Amino acid sequence: MKDSLRVDLDRLRSIKGMKWTKYEKDVLPAFVADMDFEPPNSACEALKEMVDMKDFGYKFNHIDHLIPAWTNWISNRDGLKLPEAQCAVFTSSIHALEAVMVLHTKPNDGVALFSPVYHPFAKAVKSAGRKLIDIPLLEEDWTIDIERFNELAKSEIKVVLFCQPHNPTGHLFSEDEITEFAEIVIKQNLLVISDEIWADLIFDGISHKPLAAHGQELQERIVTVGSASKTFNLAGARCSVAHIGDQSIREKLSEFPEHYFGQPSSFGAAATVAAWESGKSWLQSILRQLHENREFLIKSLTGTDIKMDTPQATYLAWLNFSNTNISQDPSKVILEKGRVALEPGSKFGPQSHSFARLNFATSPEILESIVERILDVLN
Ligand SMILES: Cc1ncc(COP(=O)(O)O)c(C=O)c1O
Repeated sequence: MKDSLRVDLDRLRSIKGMKWTKYEKDVLPAFVADMDFEPPNSACEALKEMVDMKDFGYKFNHIDHLIPAWTNWISNRDGLKLPEAQCAVFTSSIHALEAVMVLHTKPNDGVALFSPVYHPFAKAVKSAGRKLIDIPLLEEDWTIDIERFNELAKSEIKVVLFCQPHNPTGHLFSEDEITEFAEIVIKQNLLVISDEIWADLIFDGISHKPLAAHGQELQERIVTVGSASKTFNLAGARCSVAHIGDQSIREKLSEFPEHYFGQPSSFGAAATVAAWESGKSWLQSILRQLHENREFLIKSLTGTDIKMDTPQATYLAWLNFSNTNISQDPSKVILEKGRVALEPGSKFGPQSHSFARLNFATSPEILESIVERILDVLN
Protein backbone atom coordinates (compact mmCIF):
# COMPACT_ATOMS: atom_id res chain seq x y z
CA MET A 1 0.00 0.00 0.00
CA LYS A 2 1.25 3.48 -0.89
CA ASP A 3 2.06 5.73 2.07
CA SER A 4 -0.50 8.27 0.91
CA LEU A 5 -3.26 5.69 1.24
CA ARG A 6 -2.34 4.62 4.73
CA VAL A 7 -5.08 5.26 7.24
CA ASP A 8 -3.57 4.96 10.67
CA LEU A 9 -6.31 4.92 13.30
CA ASP A 10 -3.87 5.72 16.13
CA ARG A 11 -2.68 8.79 14.21
CA LEU A 12 -6.24 9.91 13.49
CA ARG A 13 -7.25 9.52 17.11
CA SER A 14 -4.26 11.45 18.38
CA ILE A 15 -4.28 14.48 16.07
CA LYS A 16 -6.27 17.57 16.97
CA GLY A 17 -8.41 17.96 13.84
CA MET A 18 -12.17 18.15 14.51
CA LYS A 19 -13.07 15.06 12.48
CA TRP A 20 -11.73 12.59 15.04
CA THR A 21 -12.12 14.70 18.20
CA LYS A 22 -15.66 16.08 18.04
CA TYR A 23 -17.37 12.86 19.14
CA GLU A 24 -16.64 10.15 21.67
CA LYS A 25 -14.06 7.49 20.81
CA ASP A 26 -16.57 4.81 19.80
CA VAL A 27 -18.04 7.03 17.05
CA LEU A 28 -16.84 6.65 13.44
CA PRO A 29 -16.80 10.14 11.92
CA ALA A 30 -18.03 10.56 8.35
CA PHE A 31 -19.36 14.10 8.62
CA VAL A 32 -16.89 16.95 7.98
CA ALA A 33 -15.14 17.01 4.57
CA ASP A 34 -11.61 16.04 5.62
CA MET A 35 -10.05 12.86 4.25
CA ASP A 36 -8.50 10.24 6.51
CA PHE A 37 -5.52 9.91 4.13
CA GLU A 38 -2.26 11.64 4.93
CA PRO A 39 -1.67 14.76 2.79
CA PRO A 40 0.94 14.60 -0.02
CA ASN A 41 4.55 14.29 1.03
CA SER A 42 5.49 17.45 -0.85
CA ALA A 43 3.19 19.52 1.39
CA CYS A 44 4.47 17.85 4.57
CA GLU A 45 8.10 18.31 3.48
CA ALA A 46 7.54 22.02 2.76
CA LEU A 47 6.23 22.50 6.30
CA LYS A 48 8.92 20.30 7.82
CA GLU A 49 11.60 22.34 6.10
CA MET A 50 10.23 25.52 7.63
CA VAL A 51 10.17 23.90 11.07
CA ASP A 52 13.67 22.41 10.68
CA MET A 53 15.04 25.78 9.63
CA LYS A 54 12.99 27.51 12.35
CA ASP A 55 11.90 29.76 9.54
CA PHE A 56 9.03 31.59 11.21
CA GLY A 57 9.79 35.18 10.25
CA TYR A 58 8.16 37.42 7.68
CA LYS A 59 8.11 35.44 4.48
CA PHE A 60 5.83 36.86 1.85
CA ASN A 61 7.34 35.11 -1.15
CA HIS A 62 5.29 31.94 -0.55
CA ILE A 63 2.18 34.07 -0.83
CA ASP A 64 3.49 35.52 -4.11
CA HIS A 65 3.83 31.95 -5.39
CA LEU A 66 0.23 30.99 -4.64
CA ILE A 67 -1.34 32.65 -7.67
CA PRO A 68 1.05 31.24 -10.32
CA ALA A 69 0.92 27.80 -8.65
CA TRP A 70 -2.89 27.82 -8.92
CA THR A 71 -3.13 29.26 -12.45
CA ASN A 72 -0.60 26.65 -13.65
CA TRP A 73 -2.59 23.89 -11.97
CA ILE A 74 -5.80 25.08 -13.70
CA SER A 75 -4.05 25.51 -17.02
CA ASN A 76 -2.61 21.97 -16.88
CA ARG A 77 -5.88 20.44 -15.71
CA ASP A 78 -8.44 22.38 -17.76
CA GLY A 79 -6.44 24.12 -20.49
CA LEU A 80 -7.74 27.46 -19.24
CA LYS A 81 -5.23 30.28 -18.84
CA LEU A 82 -6.43 32.67 -16.17
CA PRO A 83 -4.49 35.97 -16.13
CA GLU A 84 -2.50 36.16 -12.89
CA ALA A 85 -3.10 39.91 -12.63
CA GLN A 86 -6.84 39.21 -12.32
CA CYS A 87 -6.41 36.82 -9.37
CA ALA A 88 -6.38 37.49 -5.64
CA VAL A 89 -5.43 35.50 -2.56
CA PHE A 90 -7.82 34.87 0.35
CA THR A 91 -7.65 32.91 3.58
CA SER A 92 -10.38 30.42 2.60
CA SER A 93 -12.88 29.77 -0.13
CA ILE A 94 -15.72 31.14 1.97
CA HIS A 95 -13.63 34.22 2.70
CA ALA A 96 -13.31 34.84 -1.06
CA LEU A 97 -17.03 34.23 -1.57
CA GLU A 98 -18.10 36.55 1.24
CA ALA A 99 -15.70 39.37 0.34
CA VAL A 100 -16.76 39.41 -3.31
CA MET A 101 -20.47 39.06 -2.52
CA VAL A 102 -20.40 41.95 -0.06
CA LEU A 103 -18.35 44.18 -2.40
CA HIS A 104 -20.77 43.63 -5.25
CA THR A 105 -24.07 44.03 -3.39
CA LYS A 106 -25.95 46.29 -1.01
CA PRO A 107 -27.99 45.16 2.02
CA ASN A 108 -31.17 43.32 0.89
CA ASP A 109 -29.88 42.67 -2.65
CA GLY A 110 -30.82 39.18 -3.79
CA VAL A 111 -28.24 36.39 -3.69
CA ALA A 112 -29.34 33.08 -5.19
CA LEU A 113 -28.24 29.57 -4.42
CA PHE A 114 -29.45 26.14 -5.43
CA SER A 115 -30.19 24.01 -2.38
CA PRO A 116 -29.28 21.53 -1.09
CA VAL A 117 -25.87 23.15 -1.04
CA TYR A 118 -22.80 23.54 1.20
CA HIS A 119 -24.42 25.15 4.24
CA PRO A 120 -22.04 28.11 4.80
CA PHE A 121 -23.39 29.60 1.54
CA ALA A 122 -26.79 30.40 3.08
CA LYS A 123 -25.16 31.58 6.29
CA ALA A 124 -22.88 33.92 4.32
CA VAL A 125 -25.87 35.53 2.59
CA LYS A 126 -27.93 35.91 5.76
CA SER A 127 -25.14 37.17 7.98
CA ALA A 128 -24.24 39.83 5.39
CA GLY A 129 -27.85 41.09 5.44
CA ARG A 130 -28.45 40.09 1.81
CA LYS A 131 -31.70 38.49 0.66
CA LEU A 132 -31.43 34.72 0.33
CA ILE A 133 -33.09 33.43 -2.83
CA ASP A 134 -33.19 29.66 -2.70
CA ILE A 135 -34.00 27.91 -5.96
CA PRO A 136 -34.04 24.22 -4.94
CA LEU A 137 -32.49 21.78 -7.39
CA LEU A 138 -34.91 19.33 -9.01
CA GLU A 139 -34.66 16.28 -6.81
CA GLU A 140 -35.05 13.59 -9.46
CA ASP A 141 -31.68 14.42 -11.05
CA TRP A 142 -30.27 17.41 -9.13
CA THR A 143 -30.60 19.74 -12.11
CA ILE A 144 -31.30 23.48 -11.93
CA ASP A 145 -34.92 24.63 -12.03
CA ILE A 146 -34.08 26.84 -14.96
CA GLU A 147 -37.58 28.31 -15.40
CA ARG A 148 -37.68 29.47 -11.81
CA PHE A 149 -34.14 30.81 -12.07
CA ASN A 150 -35.04 32.70 -15.24
CA GLU A 151 -38.09 34.30 -13.60
CA LEU A 152 -36.27 35.38 -10.44
CA ALA A 153 -33.21 36.56 -12.37
CA LYS A 154 -35.33 39.20 -14.13
CA SER A 155 -35.96 41.18 -10.98
CA GLU A 156 -34.64 39.67 -7.76
CA ILE A 157 -31.14 38.29 -8.23
CA LYS A 158 -27.86 40.18 -8.29
CA VAL A 159 -25.38 37.44 -7.41
CA VAL A 160 -25.48 33.64 -7.78
CA LEU A 161 -23.49 31.30 -5.53
CA PHE A 162 -22.62 28.32 -7.68
CA CYS A 163 -20.96 25.07 -6.66
CA GLN A 164 -19.52 22.79 -9.36
CA PRO A 165 -18.82 19.93 -8.65
CA HIS A 166 -21.70 20.11 -6.25
CA ASN A 167 -21.51 19.56 -2.50
CA PRO A 168 -23.44 17.60 -1.12
CA THR A 169 -24.83 15.66 -4.13
CA GLY A 170 -21.58 15.06 -6.05
CA HIS A 171 -23.53 16.10 -9.16
CA LEU A 172 -21.92 17.79 -12.16
CA PHE A 173 -24.10 20.27 -14.00
CA SER A 174 -24.14 19.28 -17.68
CA GLU A 175 -22.91 21.33 -20.60
CA ASP A 176 -26.53 21.91 -21.75
CA GLU A 177 -27.55 23.12 -18.30
CA ILE A 178 -24.57 25.45 -18.09
CA THR A 179 -25.41 26.87 -21.53
CA GLU A 180 -28.97 27.71 -20.44
CA PHE A 181 -27.75 29.04 -17.11
CA ALA A 182 -25.07 31.18 -18.82
CA GLU A 183 -27.58 32.75 -21.22
CA ILE A 184 -29.63 33.99 -18.28
CA VAL A 185 -26.56 35.20 -16.39
CA ILE A 186 -25.39 37.23 -19.38
CA LYS A 187 -28.86 38.54 -20.28
CA GLN A 188 -29.59 39.72 -16.74
CA ASN A 189 -26.01 40.82 -16.08
CA LEU A 190 -25.60 38.73 -12.92
CA LEU A 191 -22.39 37.97 -11.07
CA VAL A 192 -21.65 34.29 -10.40
CA ILE A 193 -19.31 33.21 -7.64
CA SER A 194 -18.31 29.74 -8.78
CA ASP A 195 -16.89 27.59 -6.01
CA GLU A 196 -14.91 24.94 -7.88
CA ILE A 197 -12.82 23.60 -5.02
CA TRP A 198 -13.94 20.01 -5.70
CA ALA A 199 -12.90 20.13 -9.36
CA ASP A 200 -9.95 17.74 -8.99
CA LEU A 201 -12.06 14.97 -7.50
CA ILE A 202 -14.10 13.82 -10.49
CA PHE A 203 -14.62 10.17 -11.48
CA ASP A 204 -15.25 8.11 -14.60
CA GLY A 205 -12.82 10.01 -16.83
CA ILE A 206 -15.05 13.08 -16.94
CA SER A 207 -13.01 16.25 -17.19
CA HIS A 208 -13.81 19.47 -15.41
CA LYS A 209 -14.69 22.55 -17.41
CA PRO A 210 -14.57 25.72 -15.32
CA LEU A 211 -17.56 28.03 -15.67
CA ALA A 212 -15.07 30.72 -16.75
CA ALA A 213 -14.13 28.56 -19.75
CA HIS A 214 -17.52 29.11 -21.37
CA GLY A 215 -16.57 32.22 -23.33
CA GLN A 216 -15.29 35.70 -22.56
CA GLU A 217 -18.75 37.23 -22.08
CA LEU A 218 -19.46 34.79 -19.27
CA GLN A 219 -15.93 34.88 -17.83
CA GLU A 220 -16.31 38.62 -17.13
CA ARG A 221 -19.22 37.78 -14.84
CA ILE A 222 -17.54 34.89 -13.03
CA VAL A 223 -15.46 34.76 -9.89
CA THR A 224 -13.78 31.33 -9.84
CA VAL A 225 -12.78 30.15 -6.38
CA GLY A 226 -10.06 27.52 -6.01
CA SER A 227 -8.22 25.91 -3.12
CA ALA A 228 -6.03 22.92 -2.33
CA SER A 229 -8.07 22.19 0.79
CA LYS A 230 -10.31 19.41 -0.61
CA THR A 231 -7.97 18.02 -3.28
CA PHE A 232 -4.95 17.60 -1.01
CA ASN A 233 -6.59 17.31 2.40
CA LEU A 234 -5.19 20.65 3.57
CA ALA A 235 -8.22 22.43 5.04
CA GLY A 236 -6.12 23.78 7.89
CA ALA A 237 -3.87 25.64 5.44
CA ARG A 238 -6.44 28.46 5.21
CA CYS A 239 -5.53 29.43 1.68
CA SER A 240 -7.59 30.13 -1.38
CA VAL A 241 -7.10 31.84 -4.72
CA ALA A 242 -9.83 33.44 -6.81
CA HIS A 243 -9.90 34.64 -10.38
CA ILE A 244 -12.08 37.73 -10.57
CA GLY A 245 -13.42 38.15 -14.07
CA ASP A 246 -15.34 41.33 -13.31
CA GLN A 247 -13.15 44.39 -13.62
CA SER A 248 -15.27 46.58 -11.33
CA ILE A 249 -14.84 44.06 -8.47
CA ARG A 250 -11.08 43.97 -9.04
CA GLU A 251 -11.04 47.74 -8.82
CA LYS A 252 -13.14 47.77 -5.66
CA LEU A 253 -10.83 45.18 -4.07
CA SER A 254 -7.76 47.24 -4.92
CA GLU A 255 -9.24 50.29 -3.19
CA PHE A 256 -8.92 48.56 0.18
CA PRO A 257 -5.75 48.80 2.25
CA GLU A 258 -3.31 45.95 1.57
CA HIS A 259 -4.04 43.94 4.71
CA TYR A 260 -7.73 44.70 5.01
CA PHE A 261 -8.90 41.21 3.99
CA GLY A 262 -6.09 39.35 5.78
CA GLN A 263 -3.57 37.00 4.21
CA PRO A 264 -2.80 33.28 4.46
CA SER A 265 0.11 32.42 6.72
CA SER A 266 3.43 31.45 5.15
CA PHE A 267 2.83 27.88 6.46
CA GLY A 268 -0.49 27.45 4.70
CA ALA A 269 0.91 29.01 1.55
CA ALA A 270 3.99 26.77 1.59
CA ALA A 271 1.94 23.57 1.94
CA THR A 272 -0.53 24.69 -0.72
CA VAL A 273 2.12 25.71 -3.27
CA ALA A 274 4.02 22.44 -2.73
CA ALA A 275 0.84 20.42 -3.25
CA TRP A 276 -0.08 22.23 -6.48
CA GLU A 277 3.46 21.98 -7.77
CA SER A 278 4.20 18.34 -6.90
CA GLY A 279 1.02 16.59 -5.73
CA LYS A 280 -0.30 15.13 -8.98
CA SER A 281 0.71 11.49 -8.52
CA TRP A 282 -0.57 11.56 -4.92
CA LEU A 283 -3.91 12.78 -6.26
CA GLN A 284 -4.08 9.99 -8.83
CA SER A 285 -3.70 7.29 -6.19
CA ILE A 286 -6.26 8.96 -3.93
CA LEU A 287 -8.72 9.16 -6.81
CA ARG A 288 -8.39 5.42 -7.43
CA GLN A 289 -9.13 4.69 -3.77
CA LEU A 290 -12.07 7.09 -3.69
CA HIS A 291 -13.48 5.48 -6.81
CA GLU A 292 -13.18 2.04 -5.22
CA ASN A 293 -14.89 3.34 -2.09
CA ARG A 294 -17.70 4.87 -4.14
CA GLU A 295 -18.27 1.56 -5.92
CA PHE A 296 -18.30 -0.31 -2.59
CA LEU A 297 -20.88 2.11 -1.23
CA ILE A 298 -23.13 1.79 -4.26
CA LYS A 299 -22.95 -2.00 -4.09
CA SER A 300 -23.61 -2.07 -0.34
CA LEU A 301 -26.65 0.19 -0.52
CA THR A 302 -28.23 -1.37 -3.60
CA GLY A 303 -31.37 -3.23 -2.55
CA THR A 304 -31.62 -1.40 0.79
CA ASP A 305 -34.11 1.34 1.69
CA ILE A 306 -31.40 4.01 1.46
CA LYS A 307 -31.35 5.72 -1.92
CA MET A 308 -28.18 7.24 -3.27
CA ASP A 309 -27.44 8.78 -6.66
CA THR A 310 -23.96 7.96 -7.89
CA PRO A 311 -21.74 10.95 -7.10
CA GLN A 312 -19.87 11.92 -10.28
CA ALA A 313 -17.41 13.88 -8.16
CA THR A 314 -16.34 14.63 -4.56
CA TYR A 315 -16.01 12.04 -1.79
CA LEU A 316 -19.48 12.76 -0.51
CA ALA A 317 -22.54 10.54 -0.75
CA TRP A 318 -25.93 12.19 -0.37
CA LEU A 319 -28.04 9.51 1.25
CA ASN A 320 -31.81 9.64 1.03
CA PHE A 321 -33.55 7.98 4.00
CA SER A 322 -37.10 8.99 3.06
CA ASN A 323 -38.13 5.32 2.56
CA THR A 324 -36.84 4.31 5.98
CA ASN A 325 -38.34 4.50 9.48
CA ILE A 326 -35.72 7.08 10.52
CA SER A 327 -36.60 9.62 7.83
CA GLN A 328 -37.40 12.40 10.32
CA ASP A 329 -33.80 12.87 11.41
CA PRO A 330 -31.58 10.06 10.11
CA SER A 331 -28.20 11.44 11.20
CA LYS A 332 -29.40 11.86 14.79
CA VAL A 333 -30.65 8.26 15.05
CA ILE A 334 -27.55 6.88 13.32
CA LEU A 335 -25.29 8.75 15.72
CA GLU A 336 -27.23 7.59 18.78
CA LYS A 337 -27.82 3.97 17.78
CA GLY A 338 -25.10 3.25 15.22
CA ARG A 339 -22.29 5.47 16.53
CA VAL A 340 -21.57 6.92 13.08
CA ALA A 341 -21.47 10.69 12.63
CA LEU A 342 -22.99 11.89 9.36
CA GLU A 343 -23.70 15.48 8.35
CA PRO A 344 -27.45 16.17 8.83
CA GLY A 345 -29.25 16.86 5.55
CA SER A 346 -31.29 19.70 7.07
CA LYS A 347 -28.12 21.82 7.23
CA PHE A 348 -27.98 21.89 3.42
CA GLY A 349 -31.50 23.04 2.68
CA PRO A 350 -35.01 23.20 4.11
CA GLN A 351 -36.26 20.23 2.06
CA SER A 352 -33.42 17.90 3.04
CA HIS A 353 -34.30 16.69 6.54
CA SER A 354 -34.59 13.07 5.38
CA PHE A 355 -31.08 13.12 3.87
CA ALA A 356 -27.64 12.77 5.42
CA ARG A 357 -24.20 13.33 3.88
CA LEU A 358 -21.58 10.65 4.21
CA ASN A 359 -17.86 11.28 3.66
CA PHE A 360 -16.30 8.16 2.09
CA ALA A 361 -12.67 9.37 2.03
CA THR A 362 -11.37 6.73 4.40
CA SER A 363 -9.93 3.22 4.34
CA PRO A 364 -12.03 0.37 2.91
CA GLU A 365 -12.11 -1.20 6.41
CA ILE A 366 -13.46 1.91 8.12
CA LEU A 367 -15.96 2.47 5.31
CA GLU A 368 -17.15 -1.11 5.65
CA SER A 369 -17.73 -0.61 9.40
CA ILE A 370 -19.57 2.66 8.74
CA VAL A 371 -21.90 0.99 6.25
CA GLU A 372 -22.46 -2.03 8.50
CA ARG A 373 -23.38 0.18 11.44
CA ILE A 374 -25.80 2.28 9.37
CA LEU A 375 -27.52 -0.80 7.96
CA ASP A 376 -27.73 -2.34 11.46
CA VAL A 377 -29.65 0.73 12.64
CA LEU A 378 -32.20 0.20 9.88
CA ASN A 379 -32.65 -3.52 10.51
C1 LIG B 1 -18.18 23.67 -1.69
C2 LIG B 1 -17.27 24.05 -0.59
N1 LIG B 1 -16.82 25.30 -0.52
C3 LIG B 1 -15.99 25.71 0.47
C4 LIG B 1 -15.58 24.83 1.45
C5 LIG B 1 -14.69 25.32 2.53
O1 LIG B 1 -13.47 25.56 1.98
P1 LIG B 1 -12.45 26.50 2.74
O2 LIG B 1 -12.03 25.78 3.94
O3 LIG B 1 -11.38 26.74 1.75
O4 LIG B 1 -13.25 27.75 3.04
C6 LIG B 1 -16.03 23.51 1.44
C7 LIG B 1 -15.64 22.57 2.49
O5 LIG B 1 -16.02 21.44 2.53
C8 LIG B 1 -16.89 23.11 0.39
O6 LIG B 1 -17.35 21.86 0.31
